[in-house]
Amino acid sequence: MTNRRSFLKQSVAASTGVFYIAKTSWAQKSPGDTMNVAVIGFGGRGKGHISSYKGLKNEGVRIAALCDVDTNVLGKEVEAFDKDKQKVRGYSDLRKLLENRDIDAVSIATPNHWHALASIWAIQAGKDVYVEKPVSHCVWEGRQIVNAARKHSKIVQTGTQSRSSRKGIAEAVKYVQEGNLGKILLSRGLCYKRRPSIGKSEGEQPIPESVEYDLWCGPGPKGPLMRKKLKYDWHWTWAYGNGDLGNQGIHQMDIARWFLGEMELSPSVWSVGGRLGYEDDGETANTQIIYHGYEKAPLIFEVRGLAESKEGKNMDKLMQTSKGVKFQPKPGKDGQEGVNGAGVGVIVECEGGTVVVPNYSGAIVFDKDGQEVKKFEGSEDHFKNFINACRSRRVDDLHADILEGHLSSALCHTGNISHLLGKKNDPDAILETIKGDKFATDSFERMKEHLAKNKIDLTKEILTLGPVLKMDGKTERFIDHEAANGMLKDKYREPYVVPEVV
Ligand SMILES: NC(=O)c1ccc[n+]([C@@H]2O[C@H](COP(=O)([O-])OP(=O)(O)OC[C@H]3O[C@@H](n4cnc5c(N)ncnc54)[C@H](O)[C@@H]3O)[C@@H](O)[C@H]2O)c1
Repeated sequence: MTNRRSFLKQSVAASTGVFYIAKTSWAQKSPGDTMNVAVIGFGGRGKGHISSYKGLKNEGVRIAALCDVDTNVLGKEVEAFDKDKQKVRGYSDLRKLLENRDIDAVSIATPNHWHALASIWAIQAGKDVYVEKPVSHCVWEGRQIVNAARKHSKIVQTGTQSRSSRKGIAEAVKYVQEGNLGKILLSRGLCYKRRPSIGKSEGEQPIPESVEYDLWCGPGPKGPLMRKKLKYDWHWTWAYGNGDLGNQGIHQMDIARWFLGEMELSPSVWSVGGRLGYEDDGETANTQIIYHGYEKAPLIFEVRGLAESKEGKNMDKLMQTSKGVKFQPKPGKDGQEGVNGAGVGVIVECEGGTVVVPNYSGAIVFDKDGQEVKKFEGSEDHFKNFINACRSRRVDDLHADILEGHLSSALCHTGNISHLLGKKNDPDAILETIKGDKFATDSFERMKEHLAKNKIDLTKEILTLGPVLKMDGKTERFIDHEAANGMLKDKYREPYVVPEVV
């Protein structure tokens, strides 16, 4: 049985940083060798990583090590491996794990603020990496992972598994990009997902005994815990998470950008929204529109964390996109609204029709009258794709190379930067500002309707309108906006510093 004391010992031993020497990568072993994988962080998501790699046993994949800063979580998992008579090493400090030369690849499912540093350290230690979305907590560090991956010739997969929908979404993207529906007019991402209040704590909360808190905080600030739950609810704090935009939303942001074929950050971005409907310990917006002004066509992203109405039902209304195509709303389990099943999805409006991506594995094409004309369906195993690419050593074999992950994650971050620099504004003033853009106006009108149904009084709970920020896509710096540029990079806590030189 794993005990807390032995893990603490390991952590202390490694607490002052490690000098890494690039090691032999898997490719240098002979083909057919077992590939040793380690999973880092297994709260909700990492458990899925573990079972996915277990499922690849016949492909020569072995989980050789596990790492979590929570000794309870780690102990239980190590014990389960023991019971199955499988040898696995447990670590609480990922730096110790990275010193293990037998590990070929790591799979990272820690909270967001650790993604970049863990990935870069792993790459420098000679490992290939699968890293969860968003790959970064801020724009700069995402680019640093890309730089590290290229410099050290490592394979780095992003955990945006929709990219492995090859016969589904990928085919739909191809269909649109071949011009079958004419020009794209708008790519719209939706994240209509119920996010109830996380409650309001009274003062500092106790850190669970089993958690090595310094390691949990890592590159983020190490302050008192000011929310009831350490785990998962970090998503709604700026220090460790990126709101639902960077949680569920990044999946759909990625698909929306994929259709547009854009490989740079948007030349302009603004946000409108707020955390509305309840007062809790969360900070990030639960209701938000992000507008990315790509020249070809805008990418609009809508986040709605409240139910469709105060009562959480009322799904009778047909929603209408600005092209006039009618979609049947399909209520989610928790009474969340949706568009043709795409409550969490993507809608690409083109001159000759519309494509709806209602899930992670397919897409439906509608003509201008709203008649279904085509369906694309089919998904592959995203983890297997990673393993295959580790073996072939070809970045092109990856379905979600880190560059794609960086760009889509960064589109969430730049939207949030506009929000954080925003000012409270009344709805009429907001409408006045955006009225020249019919897509933005349509999104905002629907947001207002949705808030009204939730009995949000916008004269009391005031929306934040962010500035329009101009971006130089080549340098990934905002143009003439010092405050926004200051938010492209986090302030790291020694010794957990994302390196300038990778
Ligand atoms: N691709 C997907 O569909 C998908 C789905 C859910 C979550 N995610 C992503 O997975 C990540 C984890 O989400 P979650 O819901 O599992 O969060 P969580 O808070 O439930 O779990 C995170 C786990 O990481 C551990 N941890 C924290 N710091 C660590 C460190 N330095 N080293 C090792 N372990 C550490 C924690 O103890 C915890 O067990 C997030 O980035 C999230 O965006 C992806």
